Amino acid sequence: MGLLRTFIAVDIPSHLQQLIQQRIEPLHKSLGVSLVRWVAPQNIHLTLKFLGDVAPVNIQMLSQMLGAEADMVHAFDIQINGLGCFPSRKRPRVLFVGIQAPAELEALYRGIESACARLGYESEQRDFSPHLTVGRVRQDIPTAGQQKLRSALEAFVIDSPGTARVDSVHLYKSDLKPSGSVYTKLFSAPLKS
Ligand code: 2AM
Repeated sequence: MGLLRTFIAVDIPSHLQQLIQQRIEPLHKSLGVSLVRWVAPQNIHLTLKFLGDVAPVNIQMLSQMLGAEADMVHAFDIQINGLGCFPSRKRPRVLFVGIQAPAELEALYRGIESACARLGYESEQRDFSPHLTVGRVRQDIPTAGQQKLRSALEAFVIDSPGTARVDSVHLYKSDLKPSGSVYTKLFSAPLKS
């Protein structure tokens, strides 16, 4: 078996995925699909660590690590906020819905990040800014398209879609298909109840 493109993430309940989708629908309608690659609602998730290509032989070790880290953090609630852009609304590349991070989410993130570094995976250089990616701006779009995008985003606000209980964390594999990414759970670890 070849390498597996993997990442560690927290799931969002499907009713909130649908609600996020509904909230951003007007943006979706006004921008269409030529400027932005929209994330399918069932694929909206909170990434904690992107591992990249992993040899299948290392999946068990990563699963054990995830089990141990999850066992140190109590289940918690996350508040889903409004729409934001990386790096900024003026130069949008990634469209996301923000997350209000309680201390437990930070602790889970830090634990996983340190454990992955100990296992030899590359450390994340950027600060942790928890988010749910809802769209990725296509590259090389014409100036008129960029202007349309900027003005649509400038005027756009959404109400908070709500709160989600986080009681487990998952190791996922991602298969890049022409129709979009397909995510498959390889391992799930419960948080402390
Ligand atoms: P994102 O939410 O920040 O876009 C699965 O592909 C997840 O891993 C994505 O949701 C993405 O998180 C993250 N990801 C994908 N490619 C990445 C990369 N090269 N570096 C860091 N994170 C990446």
